[in-house]
Amino acid sequence: MTRAPEIVVCAGRDSFYERAAQRFVQAARTATAARGRFAVALSGGSTPRPLFERLAEPELRESVPWETVHVFWADERCVPPDDDRSNYRLARETLLDPVGIDPRRIHRIAGEAPDPEQAAARYERELRETLSVIPGSLPHLDMVLLGLGDDGHTASLFPGAGAVRETDRLVVAVRASEPSMQPPVVERITLTPPAINAAWDALFLVTGEAKAPAVAATLEGPRAPSKWPAHAVDPVEGSVTWLLDGPAASELVGFEETAPETAS
Ligand code: 6PG
Repeated sequence: MTRAPEIVVCAGRDSFYERAAQRFVQAARTATAARGRFAVALSGGSTPRPLFERLAEPELRESVPWETVHVFWADERCVPPDDDRSNYRLARETLLDPVGIDPRRIHRIAGEAPDPEQAAARYERELRETLSVIPGSLPHLDMVLLGLGDDGHTASLFPGAGAVRETDRLVVAVRASEPSMQPPVVERITLTPPAINAAWDALFLVTGEAKAPAVAATLEGPRAPSKWPAHAVDPVEGSVTWLLDGPAASELVGFEETAPETAS
């Protein structure tokens, strides 16, 4: 790791999601003040749902300058946008529709495309065209939300997969036949480590005892990205924060619950 990650442990579910929401709001405000926009890549799976629902609640909704927000995804399953496995559908139903974000600033990965490799290349172009300050330079997301699988995958970077070792492309397709693919077993399209590591703020959101072994191996074990893909998340300039609930942190050595932040 270029810089040690910040690790925040919130024992309870409510304090975990409250802290996650505060982090999101703070990042949005900081980015908007500094760069006039907040470009965030959302994670998928089930963990982010309560965060999206919290952010959509009236008293928090006004805290985020949604008129400056560009929404991307860290990864997407190759399914139609109305499929219940779609990461886009989760975000649309719980956050994007409720806050009424301008559709022109929703940058959906075309999971329904017949050719995932072409869809990945198209998404990389959209990422670059939207965020690259100088043509050809790396696009810098302001925040990337990431989950962690029980097996240690993050986004759709699975143990042993070539995508974990990608050094040039920012977005790639992952075959359903990838040996370490996890459910749902469908083709995926994912940001690669270069895209994630260009972000100013990578925030892992991990809950549940089932994740505790992968969390401990990732945060306290020897660096081995092919086995623990989250080791590939190592931004040159950006920060990495692991927000954990008590059960997910339960196999870490010497971590106590972090006192809940007062709402800012
Ligand atoms: C996906 C996610 C994936 C997810 C982890 C954790 O598309 O499935 O991006 O990386 O974050 O698998 O999933 P849960 O939050 O459901 O435990």
